[in-house]
Amino acid sequence: MNRINLLSQRLANQIAAGEVVERPASVVKELLENSLDAGATRLEVDVEQGGVKLLRIRDDGAGIHKEDLALALSRHATSKIVELDDLEAIASLGFRGEALASISSVSRLSMTSRAREGSDEETAWCVEAEGQEMEARLTPAAHPAGTTVEVRDLFFNTPARRKFLKTEKTEFSRIDEVLKRIALSRFDVMFALNHNQRAIHKLLPATTETERARRVALVCGPAFVENSVFIEREAAGMRLWGWVSLPTFSRSQADLQYFYVNGRIIRDKLVTHAVKQAYRDVLFHGRHPAYVLYFEMDPAGVDVNVHPTKHEVRFRHSRLVHDFLFSSLHKALAAIQPQDRLSGAEPSTSAVFEQGQEIPQQSSLGLAEHRQGFGQTDAWAGGAVAQGNQTAGFAGEGAASDRPFSSGQPRYAGNFGTSGGAINPNAVREQLAAYGNLNEIDGDREVPPLGFAIAQLHGIYILAQNKDGLIVVDMHAAHERITYERMKTACQNEELKTQPLLVPISIAVSRSEADCAESQQQVLQSLGLMLERVADESLVVRQIPSILRNADVEQLVRDVLSDVLEYGSSERVQAHQDELLSTMACHGSVRANRQLSIPEMNALLRDMEITERSGQCNHGRPTWVYQSLAQLDKLFLRGQ
Ligand SMILES: Nc1ncnc2c1ncn2[C@@H]1O[C@H](COP(=O)(O)OP(=O)(O)OP(=O)(O)O)[C@@H](O)[C@H]1O
Ligand SMILES: [Mg+2]
Repeated sequence: MNRINLLSQRLANQIAAGEVVERPASVVKELLENSLDAGATRLEVDVEQGGVKLLRIRDDGAGIHKEDLALALSRHATSKIVELDDLEAIASLGFRGEALASISSVSRLSMTSRAREGSDEETAWCVEAEGQEMEARLTPAAHPAGTTVEVRDLFFNTPARRKFLKTEKTEFSRIDEVLKRIALSRFDVMFALNHNQRAIHKLLPATTETERARRVALVCGPAFVENSVFIEREAAGMRLWGWVSLPTFSRSQADLQYFYVNGRIIRDKLVTHAVKQAYRDVLFHGRHPAYVLYFEMDPAGVDVNVHPTKHEVRFRHSRLVHDFLFSSLHKALAAIQPQDRLSGAEPSTSAVFEQGQEIPQQSSLGLAEHRQGFGQTDAWAGGAVAQGNQTAGFAGEGAASDRPFSSGQPRYAGNFGTSGGAINPNAVREQLAAYGNLNEIDGDREVPPLGFAIAQLHGIYILAQNKDGLIVVDMHAAHERITYERMKTACQNEELKTQPLLVPISIAVSRSEADCAESQQQVLQSLGLMLERVADESLVVRQIPSILRNADVEQLVRDVLSDVLEYGSSERVQAHQDELLSTMACHGSVRANRQLSIPEMNALLRDMEITERSGQCNHGRPTWVYQSLAQLDKLFLRGQ
């Protein structure tokens, strides 16, 4: 065995750097956070060769006193906390007093600063750390109030680390991502990023709602903002606000997800879980939602000192936080109405398509093949449609559209189960009459968001005209959602029916799971589950929700317990129940090839407008798409 030595200052710092400084992007993160903590309002980042050769961050923050400069570079030196109690409620981004010491141990770092206040010195000072013990060397310099940190030749003295770096392009794109994440945390701050002397971004301070949305669009792409809704909710000392994507704007990767806790970007299992639960019922299988969300709460309720890079946090009342996040998002998603999708800047659906996103496919619309058909009617030939006025012919529909959701079945419901494939001459006549009426003007009548039906296409799609364009509805998908939501409401209004098991099932579990089953009786009972602990590591299931009598009870209980252990609650029973209802709804919904009358189609459109989550079928596929007149004009090269 070797004898014990004290590590040199530099080596100790290099070891610490292993945790925090993984690549150039991590340096940028630490330095930007320092500048923000110093109250900077303008931040400029210069990068050369992917940040390996040079990283320079300039800020106009409070600056550092000459006497403190040397200290700033040493380990365990911070101005942000003084005693243990401060750790309980951290308001700054940094607090470990380690970043600069770590970075300067694996690079050639210099920091030039001039304090804004309390300094009699007119000059700025520059500090560098030298040698094994990293003694600080101070030299006078010229610099306006604020701080500039230069990091050259990252990992020059730790070749092993250097080997792990990727190409210049990749490293730069990581820096870019870090900057974007931080830029979204502080709308009031100006950010500029340059790479190899080329300006990449310049984000001006955003103070109004529109400017903030513009910054989000710059960072996340305009399609995200067009296809998202802004939400804001406050309760029990917690506040959540930001942008969440419409379920139709889902992604194959979980890459467009930004979550901030008191201004700090984090990735947290609890948060991901709550968001996933909220989207459960509307997202196509295996897709990921996109969001930029800000969560604010008393700092005393968040422990940020759980991970060296501070990417994770721990909530003191995790269950409360989970429930608040879930319920806020769940409500917001349920409330999305057709008009939210239509009101965005130009058509949302096309934005999705143009982005080249693979969105869940249904059978193709085949609009192209049927264009000639449209051309034959005058209504489509000119400005008549553009006026978008409601026609007298539909006036009789008022009763159907005004009818409250809960009362009775819509007219199309009568068609369940029957199927009429062939084209019915009466229906065609009715449709032609409707076309005729389209030119009539009734200025008083407001056109609903999804417009009025004009025809049914091949027994699959409903074509409708609204104020500014064409709506195409997949009638089976839409009806399926409506039936499903109706069944869910019915189910929720009744108490969850439970059923005792004739032959109780015993399950071997871990001690912590058994403890959980014992201590969380109430939560479990609210889910319709009655579990009894019969031994240290053994449970007996005595009762389950009746709707799940054919489910794999053992698996269900295991999953529920692991959820309750991890998040304090479980949506699994609800999820299983919803799955069953969804299957039932699918079988109970109007099938393709059903000939619907115009009033039936209009009734369906009106129901879609008032049904929660009606933009997606139960499997998360879109139920309708929209083409504005402007888009149609483009297709026909009109006005060009
Ligand atoms: N850009 C800056 N402007 C003003 N002061 C700065 C700046 N950068 C660093 N400092 C000062 O130097 C100190 C050390 O910075 P360092 O990043 O090493 O630690 P920290 O930010 O306190 O904690 P952490 O290690 O968690 O980042 C800070 O506490 C702060 O007082
Ligand atoms: Mg710091």
